[in-house]
Amino acid sequence: MSTSLAWDERYAGGSFQFGEAPNRYLESLAPRLRPGMRALAIGDGEGRNGVWLAERGLRTTSLDWSPVGLAKARALAERRGVALGTVAADAAAWAYPAAGFDLVAWIFVHLPPEDRAAAAAGVVRALAPGGLLALECFSPAQHGRRSGGPKLPELLWTRAIVEELFAGLAVEELLEGTVALDEGPRHQGQAEVVRALLRKP
Ligand SMILES: C[S@@+](CC[C@H](N)C(=O)[O-])C[C@H]1O[C@@H](n2cnc3c(N)ncnc32)[C@H](O)[C@@H]1O
Repeated sequence: MSTSLAWDERYAGGSFQFGEAPNRYLESLAPRLRPGMRALAIGDGEGRNGVWLAERGLRTTSLDWSPVGLAKARALAERRGVALGTVAADAAAWAYPAAGFDLVAWIFVHLPPEDRAAAAAGVVRALAPGGLLALECFSPAQHGRRSGGPKLPELLWTRAIVEELFAGLAVEELLEGTVALDEGPRHQGQAEVVRALLRKP
């Protein structure tokens, strides 16, 4: 099972495991983003997505349980000349502020089922009315591919899991299928993912 220390080890060193550019799905949502929106990037690792949101003028918080990852996120933000808040916390146990965010980015965060459910409940609480959740995670069909993702099947996502955990949100987009990844050394090539864009009523 993954631990924060294991992620600290992966993030030690200068290179960015998932690159410095944002996730392509999140990037495709740029037309929906407005400066001043409050954004939370959960499991943001080295901060590529949080920093990109901050560059779009969103007031952004990156949450991750790896202090090493978050230190790199802060350094990337400084290099790009943007402000980024960071929170070192377990996404399954954080005190998500009610209606505290207009956008939550959940990009390649694969938690054990109980933790996933707890984090999802927190995210639903944390979204303000009209707020968006953007999610991309690997699906079971990714098993055996070399383009990334967890080894444990219970960590993978399906459309049905999205529908169950986020039943209180309206579906704007939800697909389970094949995409091409080019996101740092750890995410390269054809991959099987779930992508979702959900809105809090
Ligand atoms: C595959 S990486 C993705 C990082 C980032 N979202 C990206 O796309 O570049 C997964 C991230 O989730 C974080 N993570 C895993 N479990 C977590 C938990 N329970 N609480 C907070 N962060 C967690 C890891 O530390 C890691 O940074």
